[in-house]
Amino acid sequence: MPQTERLNADAAGLARAAELLRAGGLVAFPTETVYGLGADATDGRAVARIFEAKGRPQFNPLIVHVDSLAAAQRIALFPQEATNLAQAFWPGALTLVLPLRPDAEIAPLVTAGLPTIALRLPDHALARDLLARTGRPVAAPSANPSGRISPTTADHVAAGLSGRIDAILDGGRCPVGLESTIVGFDPVPTLLRPGGLPAEVIEACLGMPLALPGTDTGIVAPGALASHYAPAAALRLDAAKARPGEVLIGFGDIAGDLSLSPSGDLVEAAATLFQRLHEADATGRPIAVAPIPDHGLGRAINDRLRRAAAPR
Ligand code: TXA
Ligand code: MG
Repeated sequence: MPQTERLNADAAGLARAAELLRAGGLVAFPTETVYGLGADATDGRAVARIFEAKGRPQFNPLIVHVDSLAAAQRIALFPQEATNLAQAFWPGALTLVLPLRPDAEIAPLVTAGLPTIALRLPDHALARDLLARTGRPVAAPSANPSGRISPTTADHVAAGLSGRIDAILDGGRCPVGLESTIVGFDPVPTLLRPGGLPAEVIEACLGMPLALPGTDTGIVAPGALASHYAPAAALRLDAAKARPGEVLIGFGDIAGDLSLSPSGDLVEAAATLFQRLHEADATGRPIAVAPIPDHGLGRAINDRLRRAAAPR
């Protein structure tokens, strides 16, 4: 990784930030809530690098940032309540979790293999200008190392991620300073994470109270989502070769029936993980997975594989 570029909030800085994103780079950028660590959401390898840079030991689903409601509607299906909330509060500190359109060009790692996607239209001139120039949906978690607090200045980002990302677009301090409020709709409007937009304001718009996860609905809290996607078939880990009837997902020297990365590259393996699990699951056969080294992105891959293999 080259030195992290510090980009100014001007036309040259924005052009460079968009160029880096379009080339699969990682760019931290300001939003009204906190700084996000952005990558092209259609590029699985770029998204995998987000987890690598943050040192996240788990693949949590990420929020995808768009520059218009129309762009969001090309990615997800909007129930009526979601359209109402988007019209009332976008751009703003509200993230909507919605059914992903099957034909949307989103890397499966973004949603951690889930059939839903979190979308947000940020209320920050620089963020929106960057999204428009990039011309692609941008996946962005908060721009902090895993387990640390969310950054609200470019210096916070640099302190945590300098040398691990391509650039930081410096837009000064984030005015809200708190992450966005997350609302899901499965089947009723549900508060998945309190945040910068007060729940009461959302409830007033909806004309009804928001449900809470795990109480009156089947929705799990965001932190528990990691266990959500699991293949239908049994999964066996650390498999050097397939047993009769199994489909083997290979890695490196273990070729398998399909491979996470023939060259043994963990970034590629992370980018292809959910795709390969879905493909293996579609065979209807029990699944075996070759050993994955337990360092760097391999830790998150193994975490996810262990969850998928857990008895249920
Ligand atoms: O204000 C914000 O939301 C900032 C800025 C950068 O936009 N972003 C942010 O992202 O806080 P992050 O990755 O730190 O938090 C994303 C949250 C996680 O708790 C994740 O579980 C949840 O969104 N999430 C993402 N996709 C989801 C999905 N399909 N279903 C339920 N929760 C989801
Ligand atoms: Mg965060």
